[in-house]
Order: sequence, then C-alpha cells, then structure tokens
Amino acid sequence: MPTITKPTTKTRKDLTSLSDVTTAELQGWLDLALKLKAEKKAGKAHSHLAGKNLAMIFQKSSTRTRVSFEIAMRQLGGGALFLSNNDMQLGRGETISDTAQVLSRYCDGIMARVFAHSDITTLAKYASVPVINGLSDYSHPCQAVADYQTILEHKKKLKGLTLAYVGDGNNVAHSLLFGGAKLGVSVTIVCPQGYEPQKSVVDQCVVDGKETGARVLVSNDTAAVKGADVIYTDVWASMGQEKEHAERLRIFKDYQINAGLMAKTGKKDALFMHCLPAHRGEEVTDEVVDSPNSVVFDEAENRLHAQKAILVSLMGR
Ligand code: CP
Ligand code: NVA
Repeated sequence: MPTITKPTTKTRKDLTSLSDVTTAELQGWLDLALKLKAEKKAGKAHSHLAGKNLAMIFQKSSTRTRVSFEIAMRQLGGGALFLSNNDMQLGRGETISDTAQVLSRYCDGIMARVFAHSDITTLAKYASVPVINGLSDYSHPCQAVADYQTILEHKKKLKGLTLAYVGDGNNVAHSLLFGGAKLGVSVTIVCPQGYEPQKSVVDQCVVDGKETGARVLVSNDTAAVKGADVIYTDVWASMGQEKEHAERLRIFKDYQINAGLMAKTGKKDALFMHCLPAHRGEEVTDEVVDSPNSVVFDEAENRLHAQKAILVSLMGR
C-alpha cells in the first residue's frame, strides 16, 4: 500500500462546511488532490479505500457530484451506493438521525446532497462514520476545493489572487468565500441588492482573511470586478428556487457574464469559472463559456481528484 500524506492537522470526522476547516487542512487536500491526479494520469493505481463503501444520499438532482463521487470510490478500490431520497424510507418520514445510525452500520462514509443544511449537521451528529456535504442550501464545500485546485493549476499560485463571484450570494458563493479567506484569495461578491451572501459568512471571512491577507468585498456594482484574476458565476435560481426563476431573470439581467463583463476585469488572462450546470444565455453567454479563458470542464474534472483527497483523508484511517 503506498504511503499517503495525512493532510489534517487535527482529527476531522466530517466535512459539512469549509467554515471550520483550517488553512493547513485545505492545503493538504489540494496537495493530495494534485498528487492523486498525477498518479491517475500516470496510470498508477491508488487503492487507499479498498473494501470501503460510501452511501450517497441525494435529495436533489446531480450529474457531477453523483458521478465524481462514485468514480472516486471505485478508483480508490471501494464502492458507492446511490440512494435517492424518493426511494429511501427517509422520503416516507424516517428521521435523519435514525438513517444516519443505520447507514453507519453498513457503510464507511456518507455523502449527502440536501435542501436544509441542518440535515447535513444532523447526519454528522448521529453518524459514527464521516459525513461529507455534497451541497446544501448553505454551502458546497467539495466544489470550492475543486475550484481552488483548478485556480492553482492555471495560475500556479493562490495567495494574492482576487476572485470576483458575480451573481447570487448562494451556497457556492459561501464556500468560495470560506475557502478564499483561508487560502489567501481575496473574494469580491457582486450581486443585486437583496441577494448578498449571509452576513455571518462575510463576517467570518473578514476575520479569517486577516490571517492570510485575503480581502472580502460585497458590491452591487459590476465595476467591482476590475483587477480580478478569476470571474466566477452560478445559476441565478438554485435547486429549490424554481418558482423564482422568472423574477430572478429580471433582477439579475445586468449581472450576466458576457464579453463586456470579462473586459471590465482589465485582464486578458482572467479565468472564467462556473460550478455547472450552466444556464447558457442567462448567467453566462456561450462566447464566454466556450472561450479559451473558460476552465469550467477542468473544474468539473477536479471534483473527482479533490473529492478523492477528501475521501482518503476522512475515510482512510
Ligand atoms: N457542480 C455540481 O455540483 O454539479 P451537479 O449538480 O451536477 O452535481
Ligand atoms: N447553486 C446551485 C449549485 C448547483 C451545483 C444550486 O444549489 O442549485
């Protein structure tokens, strides 16, 4: 069995949010993700989780999270079970706490995509095995780890960079804020009034950023993207907000990422990022998603490598 670097500085059971992850842990995951990616490309097997199984609960749709976690477990020598909320007793009223305790008797880890973030924290409280947040209404930590891996690969550094997230101050924005503050990446959120990220998230990131030199700025003016090294966006209506879609199209229309907005950075080499799925023609135009500056498919690929690092660090002991 190959030796692996243990990326944690303390014993972590779960990954519910990047809010309580240390800079050292995040850097450890990024290092391990890059190592596992290089090994995979070189055809070297790394069965760190041989014989281990991950339960994957989905209360919402997914392409990337479902496939990347399942393939990650297979490549690490283990297995994964796709559990749709509709087909589980969870969907018929069994409690999250009972579900957590039952799954802990069969599986070595639980990944869950949920509506309410409290479902993730309840799972983590009652499960004896690690719980990983595969997206909640509050955060999407695995996405942000993969995104910072992608930025590191393209820009060869993280500290000192500025990422401008333009759009809804949602789950993805929260995780990018938490991660940026810990990694020394300044994050500017540009959004319509009333769609800012949660104040508690911004406040924590201002404090965390003092340690790393990362600044946090929230603005309603797209001119605030000036100087950004990365432009990031996400859908204007997240899963669960379908009824607000038409209203949000109207409210967010001036925040679309198009060639004009990319030019406002003043940087020809500014990266374009999106967690995907993209609603082309809404939050971003085809010309930007398909431009040479776009790294959206690298981000999608890095979900696999980043999550392998997280799985090994949480389930590999
Ligand atoms: N980015 C992301 O989480 O994609 P899916 O919704 O397809 O899993
Ligand atoms: N903010 C989006 C992200 C999808 C990956 C949502 O929650 O639907």
